[in-house]
Amino acid sequence: MSNPIPAVKPVFNTGEIRAQFPILREQVHGRPLIYFDNAATGQKPQRVIEAVDRYYATINANVHRGVHTLSNLATEAQEAARETVRAHINAKYPHEVIFTAGTTASLNLAAACLGQVLLKPGDEVLISGMEHHANIVPWQLACDRHGATLKVIPITEEGELDLPVIPGLPRNPGLFTGQSGQARNDSPFTDRTKILAITHVSNTLGTINPVKELIAEAKQRGIITVVDGAQAVPHLPVDVQDLGCDLYAFSGHKMYGPTGIGVLYGREELLECMPPWQGGGEMIDRVTFEKTTYAKLPFKFEAGTPHIAGIIGLGEAVRWMNDTGMAAMAAQELALLEHATKELLQIDGLRIIGTAKEKVGVISFVVEGVHHYDLGTLLDQQGIAVRTGHHCTQPLMDRFGISGTTRASFAPFNTIDEVDMMIAATMRAVKMLRR
Ligand code: ALA
Repeated sequence: MSNPIPAVKPVFNTGEIRAQFPILREQVHGRPLIYFDNAATGQKPQRVIEAVDRYYATINANVHRGVHTLSNLATEAQEAARETVRAHINAKYPHEVIFTAGTTASLNLAAACLGQVLLKPGDEVLISGMEHHANIVPWQLACDRHGATLKVIPITEEGELDLPVIPGLPRNPGLFTGQSGQARNDSPFTDRTKILAITHVSNTLGTINPVKELIAEAKQRGIITVVDGAQAVPHLPVDVQDLGCDLYAFSGHKMYGPTGIGVLYGREELLECMPPWQGGGEMIDRVTFEKTTYAKLPFKFEAGTPHIAGIIGLGEAVRWMNDTGMAAMAAQELALLEHATKELLQIDGLRIIGTAKEKVGVISFVVEGVHHYDLGTLLDQQGIAVRTGHHCTQPLMDRFGISGTTRASFAPFNTIDEVDMMIAATMRAVKMLRR
């Protein structure tokens, strides 16, 4: 398994964690908020809110531009956050951390720039059947532009990648080649595959994919690897050097940071070879009407004034996660997942979509005779926030022959009592909707 979560018992006090999230004191429809939509966006601890506030209240200025004190302080705070993010994902250099508007922007950057230098007619880009639209459509656009073809790794009934596995052998290192080293003809890679773009964790199913093994296999074949880490970074320790990926994309807002800020990690050598994505201020070295030369990394990919407050907030979110303890948070989320899975299955006609062996705290389900939208609306009446619909994974819905699911996604501030309240509310709603 990639990035195993160390086995630890929940060691923190849920009450203490909850006290750090002001939004948890809110009521919805006269009831205490139960927030189970953490995969859509995470809530923000007080520390993050204060860091953003403090920037605007005390050092608001543009970065890398002024000689004045505030500009220098803002620049220092921004670059300190870059270093915090670098250390968190174990990138080799701070300039391998590119700030973007979010995972979607990071993946669009990746597809546009890699497409330009890598894709030719007849080439293939390999994705999986559980990708978020943000890791499908940018590649479709790139394929259309360059005459390449999009290929898709199918998904099993359990919601795992349907990859060739040799019985009795661990996936790594013999994923497709076996002990003999002979290539298997059911490998999803072909001689034409140029890019593998794969999600680390499915936003809909919660499945943790064996990305490290896939990347190792891709690398042997000279394939460039791009990972959508939006749903992994909030839950798993991610080490980009250990994974061996070329590019890794994620968002701040799903990991306790602000909206509108994201990251594209890129291996230095690859970023150097990629053309810029957007043009404008900050990304240039010298501009004339005849020719422009570009700034060094990371600024080559950061045109315009960055989301400085967002970057500072993201840095604080990472520090908060590390201070709180990633392993303890993951253990709490898995305890919630286990309990919710067991209890939801007691509901007549309920089917969980996504039963992979390796999952984060995300649980999607459908109930016979009940529309997910109606269920979500009734849960909201009880103050319970879940997401309903296709979760920006329409091809995955097609795979399972459904129009959508109800999805609960957990954070470490959630409690078993809250899960029980959701189960009871779901039972009441199902009874009412089936009348
Ligand atoms: N991608 C986000 C989700 O899964 C919005 O809800």
